[in-house]
Amino acid sequence: SALAILMIVFAYLLGSISSAIIMCKLFGLDDPRFRGSGNPGATNVYRLGGPIPAGMTLLFDVLKGMIPVWAAYLLGLPPIILGLVAVSACLGHIYPLFFKFQGGKAVATALGAMFPVATEMALLLIVTWVIVFWISRVSSLAALITVSLAPLFAWLIKPQYTIPAIMLAALIIWRHRTNIKRLWHGTEVGLRNAKPNRK
Ligand code: G3P
Repeated sequence: SALAILMIVFAYLLGSISSAIIMCKLFGLDDPRFRGSGNPGATNVYRLGGPIPAGMTLLFDVLKGMIPVWAAYLLGLPPIILGLVAVSACLGHIYPLFFKFQGGKAVATALGAMFPVATEMALLLIVTWVIVFWISRVSSLAALITVSLAPLFAWLIKPQYTIPAIMLAALIIWRHRTNIKRLWHGTEVGLRNAKPNRK
């Protein structure tokens, strides 16, 4: 429907607003695309500026997923369309129209997208991320394990969102491919001293 297409476009445009790049500008930090890991996301903003700009980046990236999915849900659109709205917000974050298509990895945006329709699942995913991060101190590993479990959690808790969860997980895992290589070779870094991972 026209409404579905409108919401998908809205999600992409909202996703395209890079919180990391904007926060770094506001806080007078270096451009996160060219420092640390090179990734414009909360993890790399933490490396550049610590918890406050990183927390704000996280919050706004979560909202980019949450707002369009919530709106689409209230407008009565079906689960598969909500899934496409979520994927579209994440694609905006990954390939932002307004920032030379140099975006992030969509972990926070995907999480935000799940909140309105699958809150228990989103909370379970946060707990998973925190546990893996607490043990490993590696954000990418925490994200990879968390998103890999998302389809299983969806299937158990909200089966109608299993396919959207698979789509989001596939996108995020693909986007972490350089992190995966480094994890495999034992060269992935935690919150400090990241090496550039731009493709
Ligand atoms: O959410 C991004 C995180 O999983 C990895 O970030 O900067 O370590 O590549 P980074």
